[in-house]
Amino acid sequence: MSSTQTFLDAIANRRTIYDLKQELPAGVKIEDVQHVIQTIVKNTPTALNSQENRAIILTGEAHRQVWDRVLKSITSKDGRKRPTSVRDEAYGSVIFFTDNETTNEFRKKFPGFSNAFNDAAYYTSGAVQIESWAALETLGLGCHLQHYNEAVKAALPLDIPISWRVHSQLCFGAPVKGAPAKDFIDNPVRILN
Ligand SMILES: Cc1cc2nc3c(=O)[nH]c(=O)nc-3n(C[C@H](O)[C@H](O)[C@H](O)COP(=O)(O)O)c2cc1C
Repeated sequence: MSSTQTFLDAIANRRTIYDLKQELPAGVKIEDVQHVIQTIVKNTPTALNSQENRAIILTGEAHRQVWDRVLKSITSKDGRKRPTSVRDEAYGSVIFFTDNETTNEFRKKFPGFSNAFNDAAYYTSGAVQIESWAALETLGLGCHLQHYNEAVKAALPLDIPISWRVHSQLCFGAPVKGAPAKDFIDNPVRILN
């Protein structure tokens, strides 16, 4: 199979999988997850090579404590369901950030693009998040993406720099079952000559 098709298959096979077991698939180590995330954070492009993407991987007690704090910050019974399942069923979570300090440095260095850098931080973080999601699923993990950003920020260990803006949480574990079939709109990409 060509490497292009392998890449496209990884994109097509990435799905939201909520039913997780608190383990990694056979033969996968947490260091494999770390290698994937590290490679993606390093190589995903950033505006003017500003390199503001950051990530941490929570597992074990750190994952449990953060998600327990997130859970306790939510009052509605329905709203507590997802963080409860993340705490009790996901093996870990990748927290994606961009460093505001870096983004602000570049805003000052290139004042003509000042507003653009703020948007660009979201774009590049989005790229890191979805690349990571697709790549972890090629390892056999199940993943789903969450946005408890403020609650996660408040719950994180104190050694996480205050300037790191939380963008999302990719929750992962061994999949219990695959995702249901998905509908697609008719959405052709045309070639114009
Ligand atoms: C930018 C973005 C934000 C999302 N936010 C959430 C979220 O906060 N919670 C959640 O459960 N799923 C979230 N999702 C998952 C989407 O609902 C899901 O990707 C979409 O329904 C398509 O399903 P699929 O992932 O199985 O292809 C998000 C996905 C994207 C791309």
